Amino acid sequence: MTSNAAMTLAERRPETVLVCVNRRYGDGQLSCAANSSEAIAQALADGIRERRIAVNFERSVCMGQCLRGPTIRFAPGGRFILGTSLEDVTHLLDELEAVCGTVEAEDELPLHLIGS
Ligand code: FES
Repeated sequence: MTSNAAMTLAERRPETVLVCVNRRYGDGQLSCAANSSEAIAQALADGIRERRIAVNFERSVCMGQCLRGPTIRFAPGGRFILGTSLEDVTHLLDELEAVCGTVEAEDELPLHLIGS
């Protein structure tokens, strides 16, 4: 695992998972999107919906950690989880489910996630 997800979630129950999908254009510009963050975002969104995890999910603009992304943040106030990869998604979902719990029905999921 390349992230520090476990330490982050243990500190506080997140209300929202933010995943940076920003792309910086220009020669040699590193960015989360250039490092497959959209695939990570989609896998997290799918997993949250399938497991019915009680947390909001949002794709985010740049969080100022471009050189160390893909960047995820648990909000409010959570630390950055940097250098994430698709291999980290299952662990992140496990941690989110353990800390946030689940909802019974799809109509209890955050509205903006149901259609994502
Ligand atoms: S491009 Fe993702 S933190 Fe800047």
